[in-house]
Formats: sequence, structure tokens, C-alpha cells
Amino acid sequence: MSGKDGKEAKEATETTEADIAVHWAEEQYFYPSTKFIAQANMTDENIYDRMSLDKCPEYWKEYADLLTWYKYWDTILDTSDAPCYNFFKGGLINASYNCVDRHLAKYKNKTAIHFVPELETDKVEHITYQELYVRVNEFAAVLKYECGLMAGDRVTLHMPMVAELPITMLACARLGIIHSQAFCGFSGKACADRIVDSGSYYLITMDAYFRGGSLIDHKEKADIAVEEAAQEGRKIEKVLVWQRYPGKYSSKTPMVDGRDVFVNDLLKKYYGVRIEPVPMPAEAPLFLMYTSGTAGKPKGCQHNTAGYLAYTAGTSKYVQDIHPEDVYWCMAHIGWITGHSYIVYGPLAIAASTVIYEGIPTYPDAGRCWKIAQDLDVNIFHTTPTAIRALRKVGPDEPKKYNYHFKHMTTVGEPIEPEVWKWYYHEVGKDEAIIVDTWWQTETGGFLCSTLPALQPMKPGSAGPGMPGIHPIVYDEHGNVVPSGSGKAGNICIQNPWPGMFHTIWGDRDRFVRQYFEKYCKNPKSKDWRDWPYLTGDAAVVASDGYVRILGRIDDVINVSGHRLGTKDIESAALTVLEVAEAAVVPVKHEVKGIEPDLYVALRPGIQPSEDLARKIMKAIVTEIGPIAKPGKVWIVPDMPKTRSGKIMRRVLGAISNGTSVGDVMTLANPEIVDMITKMVQGETKVEF
Ligand code: WT7
Repeated sequence: MSGKDGKEAKEATETTEADIAVHWAEEQYFYPSTKFIAQANMTDENIYDRMSLDKCPEYWKEYADLLTWYKYWDTILDTSDAPCYNFFKGGLINASYNCVDRHLAKYKNKTAIHFVPELETDKVEHITYQELYVRVNEFAAVLKYECGLMAGDRVTLHMPMVAELPITMLACARLGIIHSQAFCGFSGKACADRIVDSGSYYLITMDAYFRGGSLIDHKEKADIAVEEAAQEGRKIEKVLVWQRYPGKYSSKTPMVDGRDVFVNDLLKKYYGVRIEPVPMPAEAPLFLMYTSGTAGKPKGCQHNTAGYLAYTAGTSKYVQDIHPEDVYWCMAHIGWITGHSYIVYGPLAIAASTVIYEGIPTYPDAGRCWKIAQDLDVNIFHTTPTAIRALRKVGPDEPKKYNYHFKHMTTVGEPIEPEVWKWYYHEVGKDEAIIVDTWWQTETGGFLCSTLPALQPMKPGSAGPGMPGIHPIVYDEHGNVVPSGSGKAGNICIQNPWPGMFHTIWGDRDRFVRQYFEKYCKNPKSKDWRDWPYLTGDAAVVASDGYVRILGRIDDVINVSGHRLGTKDIESAALTVLEVAEAAVVPVKHEVKGIEPDLYVALRPGIQPSEDLARKIMKAIVTEIGPIAKPGKVWIVPDMPKTRSGKIMRRVLGAISNGTSVGDVMTLANPEIVDMITKMVQGETKVEF
């Protein structure tokens, strides 16, 4: 969380009531330069009037018209199954066609993708729109003729940051196949969960990739994924393995006969083959993206074709300010929604040149990002507060050593502290680049709040007002509106539907309604979208100028380095260790990651704590979820602080880990335990293992 002391972090992570008063100094505005404004895509101030709430949903036509349709739609918004909405009903469209084919006439020799390998000794690849077209077609031929996959089938991808990932996604989209990419840092087990839930028969992966200078064996995770999925009742027919170095196998894990095949071998049969894009109904699912939520199981957010593509194209154009002649680099991983929306679909839909960087920002040194920016002449840069904090920590003076010039920069994924924002602005942006702080979620497909870069000043630490056509509202626990400028926080909701929003949770409509709409629904039978405010799950404060400041999650979700992790997921992973009786995860402030999870566990009777056991628990979490979920510390405690009804008081544990006040704990069932744990965590007593 943002804020200079632990207090704000504590409030943010504990927001169970809407009406907490918030205290911070309002930051000064920073204004966009006339040079930026002169070239911007969106300079029309009327856009907010055109997209006022009373004109919803008609104004979304502006976004639909950024796309090329086989058959134009007839109904802008179908609410017959509210709150599962369908935008642009009656239309036929193909996402792959819109991201590739339609650009050939004008841009076939322009770079679509700059692929930057992590090793500086490996050559950067510049893939033109024509070459992208060829490669997408050839891989689509493999999917169609070798695998027999068809529109509506689901395929799980577990691929690293390489050009073959968007090629795979676009080949799926060409045929109407629904892709579901699991972040490559996730474990084989986490990948298996996604295979099972989506009902995939095919897994597409890569043998290896570079990270931090080493070639990581990635194929081994595919074997675990297939095995785990089989145990959960889902048999994977084939594993398609891309080779990191075509023609060479870079993994030590053997290929399984009859199951595993090299994509690079299959492709040879289809060189030069063209596959016509399949005209898909506007509401056909384009992909699933799993995300953590309050209940243990990750949920597959289902994004449908036309609405999603229209919204990401529009926001890429107006908020990212991408012109075809720009070089745009979003440093997110394509395995997360940011990469889907703002590396692949949005930018390619508007004929951008998009950069894909394989590795970590600090390899081989703190200047790598700025060197890439210089060498490729990147002028739009997009990253997270975690990356900015890390880059500032390891090389505060690095940016000035490189000759690059950004016109535009983005921060996304978590709140940014004003002082970190200012380093980004002055040092990385060299006082030239404007910054947009974009607030949104996996579920929302694209931005919810941000300034429009040429139209509004920036305010460090605030995302800005609702995007054109997006109408936020803050409610307290009782459904009363918390007014802007009141200094009070509440649950931020969106009053109206927008094309980028997910259609449902894959296979679980009830959960979709319960989790996102039930709380403030005015009438559960209603087919009128006005009765269904969308609950984002974030606490926020809106200033009198309408700028939104996000405080953090109100549910059991921890935002680590801009990645959402369910506390329940981590706790369940810890509970797979037989010795563990109870587990509780709490968010702790961290200098670089923003937030890091701490894990408290109590053991079964008769089991002795030991360092070995703590290591075993850590390992279980990495196996079940992946290294991103690894707790900073595992505390083995004699008992958990509990209410009289037996509920674990995570709030108290969080305060102990953050070194803030635990408040009044006398009403707990076991108040004495609080003191014991505090002494243990704060190092006053030796931890007895
Ligand atoms: C959660 C969504 C947005 C795509 C990447 C993460 C937090 C996101 C901001 C921001 C403050 C932010 C929210 C949100 N968040 N952007 N600019 N300022 N907080 O997507 O994994 O679905 O996480 O990230 O808490 O609900 P996600």
C-alpha cells in the first residue's frame, strides 16, 4: 500500500467498513507538455459529455467502430441475462484478423513485434506484420490439421515471454479457439488446475526460457501439469512444445512418446499455408484468464471477443496514446491480463510496434531497461510500481546514462507512492514524459480509472477520474454513496457496463453474480444494468476533483508486486503439509514488492517446530502455486489469536508483522498469545524450533 508509515497500509488491508477517514497531503498537479498535447490521439474535451452516464450504452459505438467487422452488430448491449452482458450482439468479427490481416495493406513491412531475448548475445528479432501474418497462419494450420481443434475448444498455454506466445494466441483466435494462458512462473500444479477447470485437452508450452541469465527448464512443469491434471480427471491428449532455439531441444526433460510433439517440427508441413480467419459471433469467448479471489479456487474470467477487443483497442489509442509510428514497450508478462490487453490485443489491434522482453529488468545490470529503450528507440513505456521501486533501488542514476526519450509512461497494478512516482517522472521520464496511473483488474479487461494524458493533469499517487464512459461510485457498507471530497473511503464500484468487462466466471455464473454484483444489487431479477453496480473489491477515496485514490483490496487478496494472490490459496498450500493444523497469511509492507505475504502456522498436537519444517512449508507453497507466492517469513506459533467463536484474527497477526498497534485484544479467546507472538516476531524471544 502507499503511504509513508505503516498506518495507512494497516487501514487499507483492514478495510472491512467503508467509512474510514483517510489522511494524506494532496499532491500537486503535474501538467502535460504542449509538445505532448500537439501529437496526442485524444484531445477532444467533449468526450466526457459524449460518454455521460445518461448516454450509456450508445456511446460505446465509438469503440466498436475502431474494429473491422464481417457483419456489423445490431444491438449495442444485450442485458437479457444481466449481469452477464453481451456487447455488439449480432456482429461477426475475428480478433486475429483485426490484429494482423487488416494492417497488411498499409503496414506489412512495419515491425509488429520486437522480441528482445534476455541474453545480450542473442539477436533481437523484428517481426513485421507480414511475418506475423505468415507465422500466425502456419501455426493455425497446425492447430486445425494436426490437432483438429475448432471454435469453442479450450487450450491451455503455459508459455514464457517470447514472440511465439502472441503467435499462439492469435492462431487460436483465428480459429475461435479459446486460449487460457497460465503465467509461466506458476507451478505445474497451478497449470494443472487451469487445465482441469477450463477443460483443455491440449497444453502448449516451450522447452525453456532465460531468466536472470540462466536457461530455465520449463518442459518439466508440463510433465507435472499433465500428471496432476490426470489425477484430477482430465487427460491431456497432446503437449505441443515450442523450441526456444528452433531445431534444438533445450530441456533435459525427455519428450513423452505419443504425447509430446515439437511445434517446430509440425510447422514444416505447413510452411506457406494460409488459414482463413473464422468469423465469430461478437460474444464468442476469446480467452480465459484465471485470477485469485476470496474462495480458494482460481476463477476463469471469460473475456468475449468484440467487446474486449474494442475496449483494449480504444484505450490503447486514447490512454496509451499509441500511434503506428511509436515504439511501445509494456514490461508486464503476457501471462497476466496486462500483457493480454496491453502487449498483445490492444496494441496490435491499432497497428503498434510492441516490444516483448524475455527477461528480468535488472539483467545483466541496472541499466538494461534503458539500454533496450535506447536501442529500439522506445517512446512509450509501461510498467509496475514494483519494477520502478526495484530499478530505483539498484540504479537511481542509470536512466540518464542512456539516450532514449519517452513521451509517455504508465504505472499499473498497485498503488504508487508519490516519491516513487516522482523518481519515475524526473529520472526515467526525464521531465518530458507524461505518466498515466491506470487502475483496473483482470476482470475489467481494460482501464477503469486514469487521466486522459493530453486532457488532464497528473496527480502523483492518484489514478485519476473514471475513464470516458466508465462511471465509478463509492458506497459504504450500507449502500450509501460516499461523496467525492468527503475524505472518506469506501467500496468503489462501477455503475454501468463497458465492453471490456468479463462476461462471467467460466462455468460458475453463480459465483460471478455473488462475488461482483450481489452486494449492491438493487433487484436481483432486474434486466436493467442500472440495478447491477459492479463491485471491484477495492477500497478507494475520491477527491473533490474526481481523482480516485486506490487504497487496496477489501477481500482476502494480497497484491504482491502487482500480482494478485489469494490468501486462501497460500493457506491451502501450507495445509498440504501434514504437520500443519492451521495457517494464516497476512500482508506485510515491503520496500520493493509493496506487499509481501507472511505466513503463520500452528502445528498438529505433538509435532515439534523446526527449521526443516518451515522449509518444507515454503517448498509446498512454491510447488502448489509458484515462487511468486513464497512468504517472506514462516512463523510457527504455539496457537493462533482467535475470537471466542474460533475465528483466526488475521488483523492482529498483520499488525504484529507490520510492527503496528494490535489494538484492543482483550476480547479474544486467548489474548495472552498475542504477546507471545509479538515477542517472537519482533525478535525479543528466541524462536524455539
Ligand atoms: C488489483 C487488480 C490492472 C491489471 C494488473 C493487475 C490493484 C491495479 C492499480 C493502480 C492501485 C491498482 C487493485 C486491483 N491495482 N492497478 N493503478 N493503483 N491499485 O490486475 O491482478 O487483476 O489486480 O490490482 O487492487 O483490484 P489484477
